[in-house]
Amino acid sequence: MNTSSKDNRNPLFKGLTSLAGPFDPFDVHSLPEKPGALFLEWFAQALREEVLEPHAVTLSTVDEQGRPDSRTLILKDVHGETFYFASSMESRKGHQLQHNPHAAIQIYWPALGRQIRLRGTARETGAEEGAQDFRRRSMEARAVARIGRQSEPLGSEEELEEALAESREELTADPERVAPLWRLYALEIDEAEFWQADTGRKHTRVQYRLRAEGHWEHGLLWP
Ligand SMILES: Cc1cc2nc3c(=O)[nH]c(=O)nc-3n(C[C@H](O)[C@H](O)[C@H](O)COP(=O)(O)O)c2cc1C
Repeated sequence: MNTSSKDNRNPLFKGLTSLAGPFDPFDVHSLPEKPGALFLEWFAQALREEVLEPHAVTLSTVDEQGRPDSRTLILKDVHGETFYFASSMESRKGHQLQHNPHAAIQIYWPALGRQIRLRGTARETGAEEGAQDFRRRSMEARAVARIGRQSEPLGSEEELEEALAESREELTADPERVAPLWRLYALEIDEAEFWQADTGRKHTRVQYRLRAEGHWEHGLLWP
């Protein structure tokens, strides 16, 4: 056992600080009944405080072997306790969700010292919703998405440039074209946690859980 107190860590990791604050306290006395409402309260505050890209979230899925996988995505909308994101059905996450719809979303806003964790079941909302989301994307984003093949191995950058040029041409000729496998996914959550950092590490955690009878209950968690 190494009993020496010498710090052998890579120097890049030394002296870094986290959760330095100051942070506003999280008042847990008048919480909404359901997590969607609290999410929107926190999201509105993140916008007021000009958090950079507050809608960039981490989506976790599991593969056929039960191995977790994560990536960043844009959160597109929230209605009630349903959280929407968009991607290609033929991507790695698309295949994973088709096989196992259990998924989680995680968000961290460092400036506010806030973390949100959401767990639930994701479903794709069909071709029409997917097309509507696709049409809201920028020309460049549509051109890339129309090529498809997301997450497949790419032979060379030239191959991508060629496919992109062709895709741009097609879209210029017919701007209504969509990517047939682009989908809006709806994550219906059954659990949520709102975590507020405290600089003294006495963090405040509120967990919401959906009960079998269909009502939500919430309580505090130890930090
Ligand atoms: C800030 C940010 C936003 C992103 N938004 C999306 C998105 O909305 N949809 C998407 O499919 N990929 C998005 N990506 C790319 C994904 O992180 C990922 O690379 C891609 O979806 C392939 O993931 P997969 O191989 O797990 O399917 C985004 C990446 C970043 C860093």
